[in-house]
Amino acid sequence: MNPTTFVLFGATGDLAKRKIYPALYHLYIHGKLPKSFAVIGLGRKELTDETFRAHVKQSLHEFYRLDVKEDDTLRSFLDLFGFNILHIDRLEHFVQLKERVESWENGAGGAANRLFYLSVAPNFFGTIATQIEQSGLGSVTGWKRLIIEKPFGHDLASARELNSQLSQAFTEDEIYRIDHYLGKSMVQRLEAFKQANPVIQALWTSRYIANVQITADETVGVEDRAGYYDQAGAIRDMFQNHMMQLLMMLSIHVPNTNATAEDIRLKKKNVLEALEPLARQDVHTRIVRGQYAAGAIQGKPVQGYTSEPGISPDSKNDTFIAAKLNIDNYYWRGVPFYIRTGKRLKSKNTRIVVEFKEPLRSSAAAEDTSVPNLLVFEIGPNEGITLQLNTKDPNHKGEFKPVHIDMFPDRIEGQEAYETLIDDALNGDSTFFVHWDEVDLSWQWVQPILEAFEAGEVPLYPYAAGSHGPEAANALLAQDGFHWWFDEPSEHEAANAEEGRKPVEHVTAS
Ligand SMILES: NC(=O)c1ccc[n+]([C@@H]2O[C@H](COP(=O)([O-])OP(=O)(O)OC[C@H]3O[C@@H](n4cnc5c(N)ncnc54)[C@H](OP(=O)(O)O)[C@@H]3O)[C@@H](O)[C@H]2O)c1
Repeated sequence: MNPTTFVLFGATGDLAKRKIYPALYHLYIHGKLPKSFAVIGLGRKELTDETFRAHVKQSLHEFYRLDVKEDDTLRSFLDLFGFNILHIDRLEHFVQLKERVESWENGAGGAANRLFYLSVAPNFFGTIATQIEQSGLGSVTGWKRLIIEKPFGHDLASARELNSQLSQAFTEDEIYRIDHYLGKSMVQRLEAFKQANPVIQALWTSRYIANVQITADETVGVEDRAGYYDQAGAIRDMFQNHMMQLLMMLSIHVPNTNATAEDIRLKKKNVLEALEPLARQDVHTRIVRGQYAAGAIQGKPVQGYTSEPGISPDSKNDTFIAAKLNIDNYYWRGVPFYIRTGKRLKSKNTRIVVEFKEPLRSSAAAEDTSVPNLLVFEIGPNEGITLQLNTKDPNHKGEFKPVHIDMFPDRIEGQEAYETLIDDALNGDSTFFVHWDEVDLSWQWVQPILEAFEAGEVPLYPYAAGSHGPEAANALLAQDGFHWWFDEPSEHEAANAEEGRKPVEHVTAS
């Protein structure tokens, strides 16, 4: 690869120290950074190159999850870093930055690339793009790329405004929008798992699938993000981006193993285009909105949302969302997709459950002890794929018991979302970044929900911290004859527990 400068806006911030420096270090020690590489950190603080390197080193000791040795490798890694003071609204600072980058590029020789990473508040994105353009920093001899973090706008109009500002300096092909859920290794394996297994592909339709459940539960509350979160809520913080991405990754059909980034992104766009639109007057029938009240998490009492520091006592913000969506296309017509996500819930868990239909289930349901077949993707904090099947219960004549076949995919040693994503951006692989079409279409779908919330047309249900969310989220599935899997022990497991039987047999298949 040509000499490459990593230009980091917000180099003194939280994301940089927690994620970006550890990821760069990981790529460096695994030989994945370009041979000729420099990082220029930017911020208003008056750091020198030396004090900045000390800051980076400190971040590695604090946040890289393996031991960082004080050796020549670390020293040569830190030598890649330099710092420039930069106020976002001062053009002369961009001109100075350009001179520094050019002087490094001249020393490195040949055509040179620039990767701009905006690790700053989103309201700065537009100004930075304009300054890059006006200072000439955007004129490159190699490629230039831009990495930005979600949130991409606050609603449909602001997202479009932001995109038009970015488009002044970067083409769509040059913009790499991070949604770190797409960097999670199980999410990246989801598509490959479907593509590489014809048996899964064959089952991936409404003919066999009864419903899909996508859950992202957190135990944490609003923490120190009150200012941001009280304006965003679960709908903007999680649903419009991470949850919609999981929905797309689960439901796309890419028929061959050589799919390109364009193939995958086109299929994702097709899914969003096929989503049955939700009219504002119907929002209350398909969306459940909740806010945590006081309760207990793992035995420890915690306060309610409106008692949290920085949150107004009469805040009507949502900390929980559940939704029912339908994809109106050949594969998924008639299969409900249920999504839920929230804070201060019983356990931390991100998972997708695919529930299969039971065409052969006996009509004498009371005697039928079989359970639906399930395919479960555990995305975090643990990773794995589980298939639930039925088997004869040898100890109870005529009864079935579920067996779980567990597949634990090998973890690539030390792989973490930001390492994968920065590596991909350096190599021009946009597969697991968010295309503008996805941003625009997902905001289009969410916009009536925002409007209905704003107008107070959707009830805000309180739920006790440490619960699974409001009861209305269960009713959303119950009206279709389903229930959320794995919230409580299943009827079968409860009966087994009562009778002292072994609950579910696990078979490991890895
Ligand atoms: N933190 C996370 O874990 C996380 C997770 C996902 C997404 N994000 C997103 O990542 C971005 C950065 O978040 P963060 O948590 O790192 O924010 P942060 O800790 O508040 O850092 C903001 C950075 O911006 C710089 N900055 C602020 N005003 C500036 C100005 N006028 N001119 C130049 N630089 C300025 C600050 O440096 P100086 O004070 O030195 O100027 C600082 O380095 C945001 O878009 C956020 O939404 C963060």
